[in-house]
Amino acid sequence: MTVKPADLLWPASTARLAIRPAVVEDLPRIFEYYRKPEVSEWLASHPADLDAFIERARQPELLACIYVVERGDIHIGDLYMGIRDAWAQKEVQAQAHATQAEIGYVIAPDYAGQGYANEAVAELLRICFEDLGLRRVTAECLAENVASWRVMEKAGMRRETVTRQASLHRSGRWLDGYGYAVLADEWRGSLVS
Ligand SMILES: CC(C)(COP(=O)(O)OP(=O)(O)OC[C@H]1O[C@@H](n2cnc3c(N)ncnc32)[C@H](O)[C@@H]1OP(=O)(O)O)[C@@H](O)C(=O)NCCC(=O)NCCS
Repeated sequence: MTVKPADLLWPASTARLAIRPAVVEDLPRIFEYYRKPEVSEWLASHPADLDAFIERARQPELLACIYVVERGDIHIGDLYMGIRDAWAQKEVQAQAHATQAEIGYVIAPDYAGQGYANEAVAELLRICFEDLGLRRVTAECLAENVASWRVMEKAGMRRETVTRQASLHRSGRWLDGYGYAVLADEWRGSLVS
């Protein structure tokens, strides 16, 4: 990757939304909706303490991966875009450096069900492939999180992996999971078809 997210011109705009890198001042708002049961149900942790949440999320390597989604002047959700190395044999590792991204997305419950995740993730893939020149984008979800995998499928991502009861939910249940991915060429092809 020669172009880095910090080199891009922000915000990125869609028909209804603006997407921009998060700053520390955004974290209390993110905490507010991550705490809601409909959201934390599907996240790795249920944040209980604002200070602890901010302390962790403000770490530069994490904060740099968070992007705020705004509708007008309202912060309605956030995206995650973590640039990763692809697996490679040692001799060609340099060529695999920073060639893919893992993405994630959250829309605050008050704004859910209005197509905002579909719209924001479509733009995030465009940023990954067109602006950053990445070759592959991946995302994971629990199989029961239907809204999440529908977002990935709408964005043109392919279900690549199915795991059987590999993930322990805080309810105590072992849940199935899905891994999705899309290659730059597939994404370009999906735009013309
Ligand atoms: C997943 C999430 C981002 C979807 O946001 P959203 O703005 O409501 O989604 P959209 O309105 O763009 O709809 C996306 C798709 O999911 C479907 N969908 C939305 N809510 C749904 C629900 N509760 N159950 C089933 N499908 C649902 C929509 O019908 C749409 O599918 P389609 O385009 O094939 O018709 C949001 O529900 C959320 O933040 N959930 C909690 C956090 C989370 O799960 N993040 C992903 C972790 S892997």
